[in-house]
Amino acid sequence: MRWAVLVGGTGSNLAALLDRGIDIGLVVSHRAEVGALVIARAHRVPAAVLLPSRYASREAYGADLRQTLENAAIDAVAMAGFLRWLDTDTVRSYRGRIFNIHPSLLPAFPGLHAIGQALVYGVRWTGVTVHLVDEGRDSGPVVAQEPVPVEPEDDEESLAARIHAVEHRLYGDVLQAFEQQRFFVCGRKVVWRQ
Ligand code: GRF
Repeated sequence: MRWAVLVGGTGSNLAALLDRGIDIGLVVSHRAEVGALVIARAHRVPAAVLLPSRYASREAYGADLRQTLENAAIDAVAMAGFLRWLDTDTVRSYRGRIFNIHPSLLPAFPGLHAIGQALVYGVRWTGVTVHLVDEGRDSGPVVAQEPVPVEPEDDEESLAARIHAVEHRLYGDVLQAFEQQRFFVCGRKVVWRQ
């Protein structure tokens, strides 16, 4: 299965997926000059930069994104630090085949700044969620979650490091499980096969 990874940040999840041997045929970034693009280049993975400011609408951006995915014969998509909300047509075209990783136990702390919000709120546990992408904000069916403790002395950096270590293992696990058809979607739930 040939994956596209949609990025916009440091690319640590991209690096972890590449190390894991996931077949990544394309990287798409919504920002120029980010760490993820350096990682793509180092691994000789073709990369496209699609800057939202160049498009008149979310729909126009989505149309170009779909064309880019099609040109690279992409089967499934993994979002990792891609901070754009996908348009309806893109979600529909790839429904059940677009994953996102989020640094909290959804539905707690959706959107940006999930790690800082967990600290401010004072939760004892936060975590990592891998979910399928739907039309909402971090609202698609949950595929896998893993809790991460919040320690009293944590700051954003220390908590982020603990969360990222889990992300780097969990995302590859889920993408490989998807390739092996070890789960399926039923309504708004994901069911794992025994
Ligand atoms: C990760 O924390 C992920 O949960 C969130 O964006 C971050 C991307 O980090 N969606 P990286 O670019 O993979 O290092």
